[in-house]
Amino acid sequence: MTPQQASLHAREIAALAPIIPVLVVDDVAHARPLAEALVAGGLPALEVTLRTPAALDVIREMAKVPGGVVGAGTLLTPEDVQAAKEAGATFGVSPGATDRLLDACEEADLPLLPGAATATEAMRLLERGYTMLKFFPAEASGGAPALKSIGAPIPQISFCPTGGVSMKNANDYLSLPNVLCAGGSWVAPKDAVESGDWARIETLAREAAALPR
Ligand code: 3PG
Repeated sequence: MTPQQASLHAREIAALAPIIPVLVVDDVAHARPLAEALVAGGLPALEVTLRTPAALDVIREMAKVPGGVVGAGTLLTPEDVQAAKEAGATFGVSPGATDRLLDACEEADLPLLPGAATATEAMRLLERGYTMLKFFPAEASGGAPALKSIGAPIPQISFCPTGGVSMKNANDYLSLPNVLCAGGSWVAPKDAVESGDWARIETLAREAAALPR
């Protein structure tokens, strides 16, 4: 898959909903009901971070949920790419970008949303053909004003800001012309996942899905 094809696919995923939930799931038993609640609330694109021992099994389970589009986050190495692909992830997300990781995703046909936080990082990815990037860590890197500033000289790149995004500031990002969607973990709070409060998660998803953009 070429970088251009990967970015096209990433744009299609971004178009599904204003928010991509960023999920850290410890217990595989939570995978199905969590994905079902988020999809029911209107957030079909799900990023499962590879930060827990259960993550690959969680991807396998979530991939069975009708209407869900399941990706793997925190991709750092070619081994992560292979494992994510084998588990059934249909897209990948990384906090930054290295040539090894980009090569691995392109070879594995896994569309990647690569991370960038500066104009130079964004320009390097643009040179390689990527036009849809994750802006990470969004709030710590200057938030919506920083992304707006990057958009002035480089309007051809679109972003999914992630890291510190919440219902309070999501509109600041989503109203920018170079933002297609945002990522965030707030729609699946740890305590709600652990107590199985799927109704609360569905409500949070519904609120996030209704954000204008
Ligand atoms: C991540 O990759 O951890 C995301 O940036 C999530 O950030 P958040 O927890 O601030 O939404």
